[in-house]
Amino acid sequence: MQKPKYHLFVCTSSRINGMQKGYCFSNDSVKIVNKIMEEIEDRDLEGEVMVTNTGCFGICNRGPIVVVYPEGVWYGAVTVNDVEEIFDSHIENGQKVERLEIK
Ligand code: FES
Repeated sequence: MQKPKYHLFVCTSSRINGMQKGYCFSNDSVKIVNKIMEEIEDRDLEGEVMVTNTGCFGICNRGPIVVVYPEGVWYGAVTVNDVEEIFDSHIENGQKVERLEIK
């Protein structure tokens, strides 16, 4: 398997016991993961872009959190409706979505 160009990590409040419970999970982060998977497929980016769900990043009050590597950009208060913009701007054009960035 080749390493992806972009790797998105989405907090779904996953806990070590397998339970999902927490702020991001309660605020549609699983839908965000699903929307990212849809965008990867629709834009033919399989192999180039990967998404992984995670546990808590410790900044729940800024959630839902999406982190994009290799830049290590943290986006906060992300909604399902923001996913297209993240792809249009960041993933496909290398421009961070400033309004969502946590600095
Ligand atoms: S539950 Fe997502 S950052 Fe804490």
